[in-house]
Amino acid sequence: MWDIWVRIFHWALVLVLIVSFYTMKTEGYPLMFPVDWHARAGYTVLGLLLFRWLWGFFGSRHARFLNFLRSPFESGRYLWLFLRGRAPSYAGHNPLGGWMMLIMLLSLTLQAGSGLFLHDDILFEAPLYGSVSDGTTKLLTTIHNYNGNFLLILVGLHIAAVVVHRLKGEKLVGAMFNGHKRLVSAPVDGPGTRAVQWRAVVMLVLAVGLMTWLWNS
Ligand code: HEM
Ligand code: HEM
Repeated sequence: MWDIWVRIFHWALVLVLIVSFYTMKTEGYPLMFPVDWHARAGYTVLGLLLFRWLWGFFGSRHARFLNFLRSPFESGRYLWLFLRGRAPSYAGHNPLGGWMMLIMLLSLTLQAGSGLFLHDDILFEAPLYGSVSDGTTKLLTTIHNYNGNFLLILVGLHIAAVVVHRLKGEKLVGAMFNGHKRLVSAPVDGPGTRAVQWRAVVMLVLAVGLMTWLWNS
């Protein structure tokens, strides 16, 4: 039910975010100029995000925002039933998971986007540093710092949610590797559909184009 592109997006995102946080929260050993690697990881996140935002409109059924963003009423009802152990099965994101994904994608976009305007007080200047006033740069730096920690909280909640589902008998992680989910009842959101591969290729070209441009800027 997760097409190959969503799966590649997910695990690539996890890998580059590890690099991103490692290079900022530690000395970055053994990397020589951690901030440069931090920026490169961030450019890769931007490429992945460009792909995922577009794929949310043109991807397979369960990759599409319109298919997993549900009304507050449906989300509340899902939570109510989940807590009572009577939640319906979803092949794609359940209503709460869907909103969580949107919040994560927005926070990631803000993080990587704000990074483009920063500098490190030493040698590093991001591609758009200097294109806005000093006041705006300061504001973006503050946003980058706070949102970075917020992102860590989101990731913690995300992993905790996966563990809670596992304790309730739903194995979600395997599906992010092999694309198949075993459900106890028929999914209310229907089975997955095949991705239209040429669309993925167009979006991939755009995403790689953005990444390459940023890496060389
Ligand atoms: C840096 C850490 C992580 C980030 C930023 C992250 C982000 C995301 C995002 C954005 C999605 C939505 C996928 C999509 O629709 O495109 C997702 C789904 C998912 N992630 Fe992660 N993830 C992280 C780590 C992990 C880890 C470590 C695991 C495994 C333990 C995991 C398991 C899953 C699963 C199972 C789903 C699908 C949930 C469902 O069935 O609704 N994630 N993640
Ligand atoms: C999703 C991607 C990104 C994440 C998760 C991220 C995360 C972080 C974190 C956690 C910090 C340290 C905040 C602190 O605790 O002091 C930081 C600082 C910084 N980031 Fe990012 N960042 C990302 C993207 C970018 C990008 C794309 C750039 C530039 C091209 C960038 C440039 C910087 C700079 C210059 C600093 C400040 C370094 C300093 O104060 O010496 N970041 N980032």
